[in-house]
Order: sequence, then structure tokens, then C-alpha cells
Amino acid sequence: MKKYQNDLFLRAARGEATERPPVWLMRQAGRILPQYRALRARLSGFIELVTTPELAAEVTIQPVDELGVDAAIIFSDILVIPEALGLKYTMVEKVGPRFPEVIRSLADVEKLRPAEAAPEHLGYVYDALDTTKKHLANRVPLIGFAGAPWTIFAYMVEGGGSKTFSKARAMLYRDPALSHALLEKIALATAAYLKGKIQHGADLIQIFDSWAGVLHPLHYQEFSLRYIKLIIDELGGAVPITIFAKDARHALPQIGALDCQVVQLDWIADLVLARTQVQGKVLQGNLDPVQLYAPTDDIVAATLRMIEQYGGKHIVNLGHGVYPDTPLEGVKAFVDTVKGYRY
Ligand code: CP3
Repeated sequence: MKKYQNDLFLRAARGEATERPPVWLMRQAGRILPQYRALRARLSGFIELVTTPELAAEVTIQPVDELGVDAAIIFSDILVIPEALGLKYTMVEKVGPRFPEVIRSLADVEKLRPAEAAPEHLGYVYDALDTTKKHLANRVPLIGFAGAPWTIFAYMVEGGGSKTFSKARAMLYRDPALSHALLEKIALATAAYLKGKIQHGADLIQIFDSWAGVLHPLHYQEFSLRYIKLIIDELGGAVPITIFAKDARHALPQIGALDCQVVQLDWIADLVLARTQVQGKVLQGNLDPVQLYAPTDDIVAATLRMIEQYGGKHIVNLGHGVYPDTPLEGVKAFVDTVKGYRY
């Protein structure tokens, strides 16, 4: 007996042939939805939403109801890990995350909580998963996620977003030992956290390496891939894993060699090349998020063209998270086109 009313996403992630590709969007729960904006307006801010399980569950399910996507993704943030390790963050409207305290020295790393203590401080995420599972009532699978250690490191050292992440990258050159100590701590905390997410019902784990693209290729291997691999090894194949190394297309052959099932592509990726570099895996992606601002007919045509180009072993998504001001009609045209398609 199948576990979910709609298990297309999991079947596709396992590499099984499906009647059509499944579809979901990164950042599907968020400001594109009027019901999200209404709920969010009643709160003190983003962090209140993330830390209130009942509300996080509600916004996780909103895109399942409103868009009919084939998977839900738990509403949370990658920055809960630095917070659980002891670095608090704030979310500044129209600016993004800010860390009042950052990591500068080995003493700062040693002041952080031990990696294995992280899950104790993330009970609110596990509660959100439990509540979401209950309310989803087996309609669709639930995706759990975390940031890749390098991307989390970048925030913990830089203190916020950055075009170049030059402080974080300088640390890799200046003090590799310190960098490895911090990365290892983040990786172990993330692995422990993700094991808990799986226990609380996450059916697949996606790892977001959003700042993969700022690293030199050799640094990418030494300071990022190595710790993604550590997490994959720790999870031991409990559920399928998706890796997204945004803007690090040079690393696709090595990512393709990881013990993961799905590789997410950004929208710059060349599909034909990616297929040759990443063999035996399912690919996820990769429509340009800005395509969804175009007239409906163009969205439909571009989506169909993409599906045909992939020709199977494909989970439809955008090449990065949906932008908050994307017209809802554009998002719906995208999702509906995929749902109406048959191989
Ligand atoms: O629907 C989903 O995809 C699940 C929720 C989700 C959020 N963040 C909610 C969120 C996921 C998967 C993330 C991951 C995340 N968070 C990443 C990796 C993915 C990526 O986009 O590359 C990163 C880099 C972050 C860090 C982060 N969180 C930033 C830079 C920002 C500010 C961005 C902005 O648009 O203002 C956030 C805030 C954030 N996380 C929002 C949402 C819906 C905006 C929320 C709001 O203010 O209402």
C-alpha cells in the first residue's frame, strides 16, 4: 500500500519512471502567496513564524492547497543551525539576515555549543514537522532541508549576506585549521539535526549550498564538498538526498559522484552538459525564476520545452527560489503545465 495519496515526488527521486515529472518550487511557502503575507503581517517578524510550530506548519501547507504542488517543504530557515550553536540572528526587512556576533578565532568556535547539543535547541523545528505531518494527512511527501556547511560558515563569519563573502573566503586562505574546525562543527551539528528531521517525518533531505559559487574550485572541494559528504555519510541512506550547489557548475562531476539521488541545477546550467557530467542521478530544476514574469503562453511553452529537454529522470523546479514578487498567475501556469503533461 502506498504511503502517500500522491507519491510521485518520491518515486521520481528514487529514479523510478513516472507518468509525468513531479513539480515543486524552492521558496514556495512565502511571500508569493497572499495567505502567507496576511499571516506574516500579524506577527513580529519572520523568526516568530519559524519558531511557532503551528504557524510554520500552516504556511508549509499553504502552497500544497493553493498551488497543488507534489511536495511540501518544511517552513524554516538554514540559519537555525548557527542559532542552535549559539549565534543568534535577526532578519532585517528588505536586507536579510544579520548576525550581531561572528566567528573570528578558534576561541569563538570553542565558545559555540557542542555539535551534538544542536538538536536539543531545535525542538521547535521537530514540532513543526510533527504538526505538518498531521495536517498534511499523507497527501504529499515532506522535504526537510539544511544549508551546506560552507554556506552556513559564510554567514557565521561574514555576519550577513555579501556579494563576495570576502571575509569568509579570506579565513579559508588565512587560517585553514580554524576554518576546518568550524566547518566540521557545523557539519556534525547539521547531520545530528537532519537525523532528527528524518525521525520526525522528513521524506527527503535537500542540502542548499547557496554560496557555493564564490569559492575557487579547489577550495570548493576542500571546504565544501568534503563536509557535504560527511553529512551524506552520517545520514547513511535513510532517505533520498538532493544536493544544490548554486553557481558551482564546475563541481557537477564531483557532485554527481556523491552518494545522493538528486542534483538540483541552477538556471544557468546547460542541461545537455549536466546530463553527461551527472550520470545515474535524477536532475531537479531549472527554469529561470524570472521566466515566471512572462506572459502565460511563454511560461507554458518554456516549461514544456524544459520537460522535453530533460526527457525523464527529472523533478521540475526553478533554478533558484521563486522571487517574492512573482505574479501568482505565473507560478500557477508553471505548476499546471507540469501537472497536465504526460510523457
Ligand atoms: O518554501 C521553502 O522553500 C521553505 C522555506 C525556506 C526559507 N528559507 C524561508 C525563508 C528555505 C528552504 C530557506 C533556505 C534558505 N535561507 C537559504 C537557501 C536557499 C536559497 O535561497 O539559496 C538561504 C541562503 C537562506 C537565508 C535567508 N533567509 C535569506 C538570505 C533570507 C532573506 C531573503 C529575503 O527574501 O528576504 C531569508 C529569509 C527567508 N527565509 C524568507 C523565507 C520565506 C523571507 C521571509 C519573510 O521575510 O517573510
